[in-house]
Amino acid sequence: MIKIAPSVMCFDLMNIGGTVKTLDAAGADMYHIDVMDGHYVPNHSLSADIVRAMRAVTATALDVHLMVTNPMDFIGPYAEAGADIISLHIETLDHPVRALRKIRSLGIKAGLAVSPATGIDNFEYFLDELDYVCVMMVDPGFAGQTLVSGVYKKIRRLRDMAGAIGKRLDIAVDGQVKGSTAKGMVEAGANVLVVGSSGLFSHPPGEYGKVMEGYRNIPPETA
Ligand code: DX5
Ligand code: ZN
Repeated sequence: MIKIAPSVMCFDLMNIGGTVKTLDAAGADMYHIDVMDGHYVPNHSLSADIVRAMRAVTATALDVHLMVTNPMDFIGPYAEAGADIISLHIETLDHPVRALRKIRSLGIKAGLAVSPATGIDNFEYFLDELDYVCVMMVDPGFAGQTLVSGVYKKIRRLRDMAGAIGKRLDIAVDGQVKGSTAKGMVEAGANVLVVGSSGLFSHPPGEYGKVMEGYRNIPPETA
């Protein structure tokens, strides 16, 4: 089943509460919350207080994407604020399995995010520790960037890896998910579409439901 995850950093930041209400009514499956520390990526974005405020007004799943240099320091505060999923960048971890187990120990789904140039072959050794992989289709840090088209192969490889052990892994694609790219991403094996400036908010709010439904109706991967 394809899940649609509007990217909160692409919301009208003067109207986050109103946008959550609109998107809940339009049927968003989860909210993608980008956290940036200005160090791992040259940008700052959403804090644990935003997660806490969203948690107070919506039951929709909150998917936290940590683009930070010291992710182990961020797991507790974002879990306490109400995250349902926390993804850490594999590039920032000395001990990925320890990090994933810490997230799961808090009753939260454990994910890894992977930048375009990073491989995933070693995921085969610890796939059972993973609930979610966020495959970055752009360099992390900003909305509205340019797709790295070679990454489609990574989605396919990851889906095949999970399929080989019969694991139902959520594979999210993040960055430049839009009408012209979403179909290829789903066909490659993605089932969570993070939609931001290019894929959702370029449409008027009254069309959010129709746009998200359009993505959900993409035929799942053929393989
Ligand atoms: C980029 C963020 C994405 C971004 C997607 O680092 O992780 O969620 O907001 O935005 P678009 O769709 O504009 O690329
Ligand atoms: Zn993200």
